[in-house]
Amino acid sequence: MTRRSIGIIVNGVTGRMGYRQHLVRSLLAIRSSGGVPLADGTTLWPELVLVGRSETKLRQIAERHGLDDWTTDLTAALARDDVQVYFDAQVTQQREKAIRQAIEVGKHIYTEKPLAEDTAAALDLARAARVAGVRTGVVQDKLFLPGLRKLKRLLDGGFFGQVLSVRGEFGYWVFEGDWQPAQRPSWNYRAADGGGIVVDMFPHWHYVLAELFGEVRAVTATVATHIPRRVDEAGRPYEATADDAAYGVFELEGGVIAQLNSSWCVRVYRDELVEFQVDGTEGSAVAGLRRCRVQHRAVTPKPVWNPDLPATEDFRSQWTEVPDNDDFDNGFKVQWEAFLRHVATGEPFPWDFLAGARGVQLAELGLLSAREGRRVEVPELAL
Ligand SMILES: NC(=O)c1ccc[n+]([C@@H]2O[C@H](COP(=O)([O-])OP(=O)(O)OC[C@H]3O[C@@H](n4cnc5c(N)ncnc54)[C@H](O)[C@@H]3O)[C@@H](O)[C@H]2O)c1
Repeated sequence: MTRRSIGIIVNGVTGRMGYRQHLVRSLLAIRSSGGVPLADGTTLWPELVLVGRSETKLRQIAERHGLDDWTTDLTAALARDDVQVYFDAQVTQQREKAIRQAIEVGKHIYTEKPLAEDTAAALDLARAARVAGVRTGVVQDKLFLPGLRKLKRLLDGGFFGQVLSVRGEFGYWVFEGDWQPAQRPSWNYRAADGGGIVVDMFPHWHYVLAELFGEVRAVTATVATHIPRRVDEAGRPYEATADDAAYGVFELEGGVIAQLNSSWCVRVYRDELVEFQVDGTEGSAVAGLRRCRVQHRAVTPKPVWNPDLPATEDFRSQWTEVPDNDDFDNGFKVQWEAFLRHVATGEPFPWDFLAGARGVQLAELGLLSAREGRRVEVPELAL
């Protein structure tokens, strides 16, 4: 079997996502499973160049995983002929500049979301990449979650009849950092550093809604900063200036209405950290990260509103678990494999910079809706 190397810069590898999901769970996992098999019988083998700001952290990560190619000099890494792909998992604010640099030297680019801080910049990157003839991709990991894959299977099989509405609940309590350390980086809570739950989550909601139910045509959002003061990684109190909760209504092409709550200030009384309930004329489903449960029209109970009596039915027990019927690998890894095949063979990859720009656009218009207290239509984006 022929093995073909593909050089990949992994920038931001010391961060939460860069390290855990992209290095360990995706790229190293791909190497552990022997590389990415291609249709012609060859295997793609990722050769990694770790890039970051801290020599100490990079050396530690490299040593821990038996790697030896790392640098704090992005420009030098980008100048290498044995590198074909630039990957970015830095803090969002640093992304645009680094991606622009990668486009200029003709590297293919894969990046965490959001692609850029505003729609104009995201579209500009998409255009520049097209002119340079480089292939692009943006992480859309939620599409590959087992729960959402099962939901997609139900949609493709016509289970719902006509889909009427989607209601989603995402969130958990992020500690303030005073008496227990916060479990998310503090920049997430500072607007000036690119933080905020709308910028973080609306790009995800965009591709989930568009791929499963229809393009978003209008958004109405209310946002809040429920916890105004937090404590950072160094124990210093800071003012939380970014939104930490967003309550959004999304009107989709074809008439489906989606209502999605996103919050870092809720305590979980759910089975999973995100859950979507889909109601259709023929049946309903509740999908989470891994599980998906359904109730068909034919077995729908007939509750009668009577607050004077205790509930007579165990509503949760009336739903049926959708079986896996498949092996679900890590979603980040599955998307990495698809992107690498796209780069190596031109296999289609729909989650490109233009798709990423649509996610940025939805976040921007969601914030506009909240600021101005009105419904905002979402125009079609094109290159
Ligand atoms: N796909 C997802 O589900 C998902 C989830 C969380 C975060 N993200 C995205 O991943 C990116 C990284 O988020 P994270 O949670 O890993 O953050 P993090 O703070 O843990 O990591 C940030 C990385 O950026 C680097 N960096 C470069 N320049 C920096 C600067 N000037 N200030 C601070 N750090 C700098 C850090 O060294 C670190 O490697 C963000 O763009 C975020 O939107 C995606």
